Amino acid sequence: MARDRRDTYYWRAKDEGFRSRAAYKLFQINEKHNVIKRGDTVVDLGAAPGGWLEVAKKLSGGRIVGVDLKKISPIEGVETIKGDITSDKTIAQIFDMVGKAGADVVICDAAPNLSGNWSLDHARSIDLTTSALECAKKILKPGGNFVVKVFQGDMFKDFLDEVRNNFTFTRSYSPQASRSQSAETYVVGKKFLTAPVRRGDEFDVEIDELGSSGDGAVLIEGFVVFVKNVEIGDRVRIKIKDVKPNFAFADVVSKVDS
Ligand SMILES: C[S@@+](CC[C@H](N)C(=O)[O-])C[C@H]1O[C@@H](n2cnc3c(N)ncnc32)[C@H](O)[C@@H]1O
Repeated sequence: MARDRRDTYYWRAKDEGFRSRAAYKLFQINEKHNVIKRGDTVVDLGAAPGGWLEVAKKLSGGRIVGVDLKKISPIEGVETIKGDITSDKTIAQIFDMVGKAGADVVICDAAPNLSGNWSLDHARSIDLTTSALECAKKILKPGGNFVVKVFQGDMFKDFLDEVRNNFTFTRSYSPQASRSQSAETYVVGKKFLTAPVRRGDEFDVEIDELGSSGDGAVLIEGFVVFVKNVEIGDRVRIKIKDVKPNFAFADVVSKVDS
């Protein structure tokens, strides 16, 4: 049979022994964003038939768990769960498997059954991606990484902001292996934040220390927040503007009367 030159990745997957052409999307995402490292524990949501599981195993060599509504035929060194990633029961099963140690990386290539109706497919995709993010928040180690497929549409920006609130670094990225006419893109979140503060949060604080750069430094639930243009003794309302894994930056919103 003549090879269809429009679908190089399909044939490459056949030649190189991967279960799906999607395998190359994960290779390309990883090449660009370095989400999976040697030894990582990786959880793959919506993993059948298993191309991403094969790639994750190759990149990490560590513990790999795949979850799908469909049965995933066995891959050496990969554990699987048959279940719905939007159900609490499946999330509890995943948590039981990796809970104590946690996962270094959660990846999700899950796709709803497409109806052809753009806004319905977008809404279903956002449902799946939101479940994937909730699962990631439960099982990721602090500093862990997240990749999720999203069909673009009007709820995309809110979803991106939600990821941004939970990770130090957030980008959307469309690998070359995605078909050019596809609405899909991938959202990458790196360095999962477990800080007790989030961008946009406001607090009333009293500045009782200055950091080495001269910025004010306050502790919120044991977490250091740096505040610009303040003096020791100032009582101010601050708004968190950027959160890093071990500290945050805030601006003064107003003075607080004593
Ligand atoms: C595009 S395929 C994933 C391909 C896979 N990354 C690979 O490389 O072989 C999408 C998968 O998402 C799964 N899926 C969709 N909704 C799901 C859900 N609610 N729970 C679990 N899996 C789901 C589908 O069964 C399907 O196997």
